[in-house]
Amino acid sequence: MSLLEAREVGKRYGPVVALESANLSVDAGEVHALLGANGAGKSTFVKILTGVIQRDGGSVELRGEPVRVSSPSQAARIGLAPVFQDPALVPDLTVAQNIRLTGVAVEKVQQRLRELDIDIDFTEQAGDVPLPLLRMIDLARAMARDPQLLLLDEITAALPSDLAERVFAVMEEWRRRGRSVLFITHRLAEVIAMCDRATVLRDGRDVGTLVPRGGGERQIVEHMLGPEAAKAEARAAEVDEKAAAEDRGAADAGATTLGVSDLRVGSLAGVSFSLRGGEILGIAALEGQGQDDLFAVLAGERRAEGGEMSVAGKALRPRHPYDAIRSGLVLVPADRLLALLPQRSVRENIAAPRYNRVTRWGPINPREERRRVAKAIEALQIDTRAQRQVRRLSGGNQQKVTIARWLASGFQTLLCFDPTRGIDVGTKRQIYALLRRLADDGAAILFFSSELSEFPLVCDRVLTLFGGRITGELAGEGADEASLLRAMHGLVEEVAV
Ligand SMILES: Nc1ncnc2c1ncn2[C@@H]1O[C@H](COP(=O)(O)OP(=O)(O)OP(=O)(O)O)[C@@H](O)[C@H]1O
Ligand SMILES: [Mg+2]
Repeated sequence: MSLLEAREVGKRYGPVVALESANLSVDAGEVHALLGANGAGKSTFVKILTGVIQRDGGSVELRGEPVRVSSPSQAARIGLAPVFQDPALVPDLTVAQNIRLTGVAVEKVQQRLRELDIDIDFTEQAGDVPLPLLRMIDLARAMARDPQLLLLDEITAALPSDLAERVFAVMEEWRRRGRSVLFITHRLAEVIAMCDRATVLRDGRDVGTLVPRGGGERQIVEHMLGPEAAKAEARAAEVDEKAAAEDRGAADAGATTLGVSDLRVGSLAGVSFSLRGGEILGIAALEGQGQDDLFAVLAGERRAEGGEMSVAGKALRPRHPYDAIRSGLVLVPADRLLALLPQRSVRENIAAPRYNRVTRWGPINPREERRRVAKAIEALQIDTRAQRQVRRLSGGNQQKVTIARWLASGFQTLLCFDPTRGIDVGTKRQIYALLRRLADDGAAILFFSSELSEFPLVCDRVLTLFGGRITGELAGEGADEASLLRAMHGLVEEVAV
């Protein structure tokens, strides 16, 4: 039986067509995927269905009754509860204060988090809680409303596998109870494993609804990108994989750029490694194993509590992110909203890092700057239809801007924390290739990803962290999911390589 029927739903922002005309039908007891490339209109659809924005045209029916969802509170009353793509929390307020703001009983959210086996201190400031845990709070908050339809907009994008599993368990629970889930993700494996049906959007229109199980992956990519683009994509993937395999042999050429010795901070309990120019070193870990602290210390956002760091043989003791940047270390952080100037244009955001002292271009030359920005936009295929304010870009396009801003800024070491979070399958490959090109040009790259399948595609070498220590080292090509998971759970005795 159909729970939700949306027909020919459209939304424009001035000249920008966010959603052209989209149909969607979700059955009771169904987990339904909503798929599409960055900027296809998925989040717009979710916001319309949950009353955050109003549609320009089309109709929505719930159990056969026409509805106009005029506000989020009305959406909640009729059984629609969303988890939006980016956490909707005020960083300076505590977790409990944030929850009270949304009108949900704090005890109910706590109860849901206990069921998810997640322990969060509700008196902590939301800004100090790691992003993956904020996502779980958002999930618990939506569950606390016990909705007929849970709408999950890229909730797993920032989640390591252990937390993603708990989201899947919730989705299964909802299905079992005859309720429904609308699930947005760029991880196709999740769609194949979890979803009963999938509707694909392209350029603001639905282009097909299909059953993902049993080899639907290729079909999905074809729908998302269009058949021609999908073919080109498949060819590029083959070439990439061959090139990656060939490149790995050559990786040991560069001198050590980044040295870390017995580093201790927060949950990081003494970690040592070295990273050479030309090399991409992966860090794989479940949630909360010290990876956040490692990246924060290297980027100058936290002070080390013990141990040494060096860059090109010189001691590195950054007291501030600028110190790290001056030493040639730049960070693509987990939380894009902190990295960007949301009210500013795409151009200003990409150009921003030039206004500090690392610039190698000398005084600002507007023409040179325009060229540089255009090149970065092109390299990452940033959708610039809404470029006057970065906050209006789709989530994936914002993520691309966080990477673009460092291109050609003259860094030696790139610290990438989940850089492809929320980026669609077509562009992910471009980012892998871009990282490889940067390494070939001599950059050293430290790479954390919450998506395990990225490690063998991207890395020369992978270290696994567990309980704040390194528990394994794998060659890039040996870093398959099973080996990574064993080492990430601290289960490996024999160390590969
Ligand atoms: N407030 C706004 N003003 C102008 N354009 C907007 C606004 N909000 C969204 N858009 C545009 O609408 C289009 C669809 O955006 P939407 O966020 O729905 O994409 P998406 O499918 O969720 O993509 P992603 O996978 O990157 O999250 C984009 O081109 C985006 O720039
Ligand atoms: Mg989105």
